[in-house]
Amino acid sequence: MDRLVIKGGKRLKGEVEISGAKNAALPAIAAALLASGEHMVARVPDLRDIKTMGRLLENMGAEFHYKPHKAVITTNKINNLEAPYELVKEMRASVLVLGPMLARFGKAKVSLPGGCAIGARPINLHLMGLEKMGAKIELESGYVIASAKRLKGADIHFDTVTVTGTENLMMAASLAKGTTILRNAAREPEVADLASALTAMGARINGAGKSTIEIEGADELRPLTHKVIPDRIEAGTFMAIAGITGGDITIRGCVPEHVKAFLIKLKAAGLRINEGADWVRVIGPGSLKAVNIKTAPYPGFPTDMQAQFMALMSIAKGTSIITETIFENRFMHVAELRRMGANISFKGNVATVRGAKGLKGANVMATDLRASASLVVAALRAEGETTIHRVYHLDRGYEKIEEKLTRLGADVRRKKR
Ligand code: EPU
Repeated sequence: MDRLVIKGGKRLKGEVEISGAKNAALPAIAAALLASGEHMVARVPDLRDIKTMGRLLENMGAEFHYKPHKAVITTNKINNLEAPYELVKEMRASVLVLGPMLARFGKAKVSLPGGCAIGARPINLHLMGLEKMGAKIELESGYVIASAKRLKGADIHFDTVTVTGTENLMMAASLAKGTTILRNAAREPEVADLASALTAMGARINGAGKSTIEIEGADELRPLTHKVIPDRIEAGTFMAIAGITGGDITIRGCVPEHVKAFLIKLKAAGLRINEGADWVRVIGPGSLKAVNIKTAPYPGFPTDMQAQFMALMSIAKGTSIITETIFENRFMHVAELRRMGANISFKGNVATVRGAKGLKGANVMATDLRASASLVVAALRAEGETTIHRVYHLDRGYEKIEEKLTRLGADVRRKKR
């Protein structure tokens, strides 16, 4: 297992180009299952999760060719309607094949994802929606077995806002008979991006990016050509890095609108921000101010930035209260940040961060993708050397992280085992 060794204390400066969004690329690739033919998805980041999605589609009989940053998927010969445990356990987003498979082929067998490091993460709402659309759902030996002659449009209300749930049902509804309404739908930019991909395939979708989405099903869709949006979480992570190192980083190729909630909190913490149409320049202050945050579905403060913001607050002047409302167990990074000298405690979903004078390098363990990003943020500020173990978590979501950091002046090395 690879480790990252970071010598902290440098002010990072320069420009960084943001990659395509993992969480927009994954559903776009799954959407290829909705139509026969050759599909092309551009700006796909070179990440382990993308390869896992590719293996999943190949296992179903599709061809998947990936060359940074383009994925070409051929779906003429799908002959296995199963997402096996071995692949789903590697990546929960595998569940995104359920809606398209069921809608196009009338059948799907998908392993239940199970819990993970950040929470129980059930898929009951995905299944509820498909049932409302007329699917028969059975649970057998850890698998969801879904069948339907043809899905029918339905009026569906989500009790909880769910990103992949909204995406799964939007894809299923694109081939259903009649109109589907999704209420209390996720408004994340990745959902809107999938809607534009589906629209390019011939789907008729209204309201994507809003909490009520209306989809008029088509009998058939055409192959997809789509370029995914930039990764707002990668962009936000580099902003946190500029802030914690007192650096000056221009983040290029991003959509400032997608990181609004984060920018507001960064400004409150004392960072100087300039933005243009597709760039944000972030200048870190000499001393950070403590700011409270509470995660919420988009357009609120993203749970995927909570850990990185906590790292930033660990050296701010004052006390910051961080409330996580999306996942019940997303404070795994707290114990690791403490190893570096951070003064953080938590009870339930509320963490109290008392700004420390500084951080010190240590051996720390990555536990999930965004937790590992927070360790990188902290390590770049810490005095001395930090070794981040189990860095494969980071590799799921950050393309060429050490190259990008090195170009900004960081001292970071990967040690292979
Ligand atoms: N939930 C249910 N039932 C469901 C679905 C969700 O109770 O059927 C609950 C979850 O347990 C959670 C909340 O609803 O408490 C929100 O979960 P959501 O379904 O929105 O999460 P997701 O779709 O599984 C996506 C991202 C995550 C991101 C969350 C929240 C992808 C592939 N994953 O997950 O990204 O944290 O939305 O924004 O889009 C990451 O990239 O590191 C990551 C974890």
